[in-house]
Amino acid sequence: MAHSTPYTIFFAGAVSVVCGVLVASAAVALKPMQEANKTLDQRKQVISVAGVACAADATTPEAINKCYEENIRPVVIDLKAGSIDAGVEAATFDMQRAMKDPATSAAAPPNDAKVLRLPKNAKVYQVVAGDEVKSLILPIQGYGLWSVLYGFLALDADGNTIKGITFYEHGETPGLGGEVDNPKWKSLWPGRKAYDASWKPAIQVIKGQAGSPESAPFAVDGLSGATITSNGVTKLVQFWLGENGFGPYLSNFREGRS
Ligand SMILES: Cc1cc2nc3c(=O)[nH]c(=O)nc-3n(C[C@H](O)[C@H](O)[C@H](O)COP(=O)(O)O)c2cc1C
Repeated sequence: MAHSTPYTIFFAGAVSVVCGVLVASAAVALKPMQEANKTLDQRKQVISVAGVACAADATTPEAINKCYEENIRPVVIDLKAGSIDAGVEAATFDMQRAMKDPATSAAAPPNDAKVLRLPKNAKVYQVVAGDEVKSLILPIQGYGLWSVLYGFLALDADGNTIKGITFYEHGETPGLGGEVDNPKWKSLWPGRKAYDASWKPAIQVIKGQAGSPESAPFAVDGLSGATITSNGVTKLVQFWLGENGFGPYLSNFREGRS
């Protein structure tokens, strides 16, 4: 049976409206779940880069949250001053959101990591045992070849010795720049030094092989076939260790002022 043209148009319109409403409702309904999963994934990354003992067995949301809450104390800092900002609630502070919001961020000075905006406040995760801070976990981000890489860098309580690195989001090519995720490559970082003797960020991803942390404290093997991503990692790590990143906080921390 043939339908009239107005009927066909009405029918197509009605189907579009119904589908649109369904998709929009699903997006709104799933948002809190997505946010919760994102938080859980970040906590998982933080405990794993922290190297805390319970991280290996933390496979369920409950275990991840328990391991995180027992070992991690998030603090919000004033990035420029490098001091803890007690006026901001650390548990709910979202550094990515703060970085995008013009009210809580400013244009970053030109930099090799292609970080465009800097937040007034930033989040640092202290790995604690009782009152003692065992290590610090710093959020890091910056450009590789195709994408912004987001991750964490863990430093020992000396504010210099690297304990680990991880990237939880990027769009680099699997098998090339995507090897930043490779546990074997990440295992090359612990034991190396972030800063040289004059506290200038010194750690870099070189082309080729670096050798042991003892023989090459400031160098990490390059990712083969992915020099641009490797250089991106050097630039972003050095940016966040530097004066516009966590440099002021780390300096205060080392001297017991933060
Ligand atoms: C399809 C494709 C994907 C690539 N993906 C990456 C990448 O993710 N990261 C990267 O640094 N180089 C990537 N490259 C290679 C770069 O273009 C460039 O050749 C490389 O970074 C040079 O590194 P090398 O000197 O170690 O060979 C890709 C090349 C092609 C053709």
